[in-house]
Amino acid sequence: MRDVTKDNITDVFMGYLGADTDPRLREVMGSLVKHLHNFAREVNLTHAEWNTGIAFLERAGEISDAERHEFVLLSDVLGMSSLVDMINSTPEGTSSSVLGPFHITGSPDLPVGADMRRDYDDTLLLVEGTVRDPDGNPIEGATLDIWQTAPNGLYSSQDPDQDTYSFHGLQQVGADGRYGFTTVRPVEYTVPSDGPVGDILRACGRHPWRPSHLHFIVEAEGFRPLVTEVFPEDDPYLDQDTVFGVREDLVMRYKTLGPETFPAQGFALSGKVTEDYLKVDFDLTLVRA
Ligand code: BEZ
Ligand code: FE
Repeated sequence: MRDVTKDNITDVFMGYLGADTDPRLREVMGSLVKHLHNFAREVNLTHAEWNTGIAFLERAGEISDAERHEFVLLSDVLGMSSLVDMINSTPEGTSSSVLGPFHITGSPDLPVGADMRRDYDDTLLLVEGTVRDPDGNPIEGATLDIWQTAPNGLYSSQDPDQDTYSFHGLQQVGADGRYGFTTVRPVEYTVPSDGPVGDILRACGRHPWRPSHLHFIVEAEGFRPLVTEVFPEDDPYLDQDTVFGVREDLVMRYKTLGPETFPAQGFALSGKVTEDYLKVDFDLTLVRA
């Protein structure tokens, strides 16, 4: 095409696609480019602004490595990770929520009732619940991959004082579908803001905080894997999670209980709890594959 104009450039782009282009790629790419072109026309984008955008992408690439996923963080703070999650979730199951960059593979097995605190001494939290199918039946043999920050708000991969699998564990449930563990109460924390994504947050007058949460990946044969998080209802950042991860059904309530109510058996800490503790019962529902 030799007479490309600002009005026909999107159609020209589509005309350049080969006849054998995969139909789904044609649809996704065509829509992406249409929205990009419309965006540039709508805001009368200047050269300086577009160059700022390209320089941002270059800096995001430079800071990224096996541990640092700046583009994932960008997707998170723009709401794209959460939007894609919500587009692909089904109402019969527990809502999914962002994976985040701090999940690691190879976490140690935790028997049901295990204590994840290691040497950390902070508010004790007992977490338990049942993994269920959409009809409410327990799913025998489901596995949970659980992770959270230490009381200093850091994941193990961010903190040289923690070993690799601190506050990470895998649990397999029995025939009753019950999972359970003790840990410390998770704390709110900030997403990494020392890179280009942090610059965007600051430029837009946004904070980098996430409400405190526990992460879970729940898997069972015949069911769709669930990547999710649960949040306490009294967290100050619940209504302003910088990565848009909170869903109504993922909000839980901690109960404060006296030590005499701690289960007498079935937990590593049974018979050892001498102070008030927090407890939450949170069921997780998987949808069929
Ligand atoms: C997280 O919850 O671990 C997380 C999610 C998105 C961005 C950064 C951290
Ligand atoms: Fe997290």
